[in-house]
Amino acid sequence: MTHPATAQRIATFGTTIFTEMSALALAHNAVNLGQGFPDFVGPDFVKNAAVAAVQADLNQYAPMPGLPSLRQAIAATWADRTGREIDPLADVSISSGATEVLCNIMLAFVNPGDGVVMFEPAYDAYQPDVIMAGGHAIPVRLYPPDAQHSGWHYDDAALEAAFAQRPKLLLLNTPHNPTGKVFSASELQRIAELCQTYNVLAVVDEVYDRLVYDQHQHIHLASLPGMWERTMTVNSIGKTFSVTGWKIGWCVAPAKLISAVRATHQWVTFATSTPMQQASAVALNDARHNGYYDQLISEYSARRIQLNTILRATGLPLIDAEGSYFVSVDVAPLGVSDVRVFCRRLTSELGVASIPIPAFYLAPGAPALARFCFAKKATTLAAAGERLTRLHDIDWTS
Ligand SMILES: Cc1ncc(COP(=O)(O)O)c(C=O)c1O
Repeated sequence: MTHPATAQRIATFGTTIFTEMSALALAHNAVNLGQGFPDFVGPDFVKNAAVAAVQADLNQYAPMPGLPSLRQAIAATWADRTGREIDPLADVSISSGATEVLCNIMLAFVNPGDGVVMFEPAYDAYQPDVIMAGGHAIPVRLYPPDAQHSGWHYDDAALEAAFAQRPKLLLLNTPHNPTGKVFSASELQRIAELCQTYNVLAVVDEVYDRLVYDQHQHIHLASLPGMWERTMTVNSIGKTFSVTGWKIGWCVAPAKLISAVRATHQWVTFATSTPMQQASAVALNDARHNGYYDQLISEYSARRIQLNTILRATGLPLIDAEGSYFVSVDVAPLGVSDVRVFCRRLTSELGVASIPIPAFYLAPGAPALARFCFAKKATTLAAAGERLTRLHDIDWTS
């Protein structure tokens, strides 16, 4: 049988690098520090809330914009974080993970031919979301730390040139996957200024907002002067509460923007899992008072130090995380010519999976970095460390 031709919009969509590396990790029984999810369990107060919600028979369709209890919990958390009181009924919309929210936003705002500014490396869903809406990405390159810059950085003129192309949206991710960069107050100030000068709406993906280390601080772009009116802030329950399989996400924005997001959400999934929304409401409400966020950051700080120690022992230059749960190493000193090949070989020959950073760049010329995830048990990290002691036994140049 001759199959009908698929739509042109998916012509560039391959298998994600996460799927490829995780399958390889499984095939070689590798320690998987590639895909970004915890291999430890979520907290009992969160899991128990899910069981209770199912037992309470909250098992039918949720209202399209989301359960009122969850929208109230998000509004209360937003007020704690930003000092701004928002209307939980009008300014919050729930979807099936940040992934769905981002797609809904693109479908709601991007017309064919519209540009969307995004920093590259970019989380892998961003460009396909823009393409599905008929738009195109306008990449602005992030460069790794160097002698002049202590962290990942970009060229301000390149950012302004991207805005000068009159994009429809800016899509920003802070803390940033895959680099671990946390955009600073002055960078966000500048981005806010450009959004206002060029009349661009901002979409900020903040799924790692609770994972910020040392002196770094997460600042909500929406909290800067003049930005509430033009910012859609995206977040989800998965990373913060170590339950990435729940897929409960949300958007916080002024009512007018939210109604557009709901317009697409209603035809994509319509309603998101009711019991998991209720459990997410309990998680957010309890976490406001039970010390959970402090415990989370202290546990993640310990994991980060453990992985950094392991990676530093290899002698390869390490780029530490300011936020999120990713660090990267420069594999160029090993004589590696292709980081993707290196990551495949590291998985199959040494039994440690990572993700090649070039997979997140939209254009060639990416740095030779491999990303490692520390959302893992101490025993998992130790097992990877043990295997990495044999890194230099292999000829990586071949
Ligand atoms: C930057 C970023 N945004 C969004 C997501 C997806 O979030 P969710 O699981 O809530 O759809 C991820 C997951 O890895 C991510 O790293």
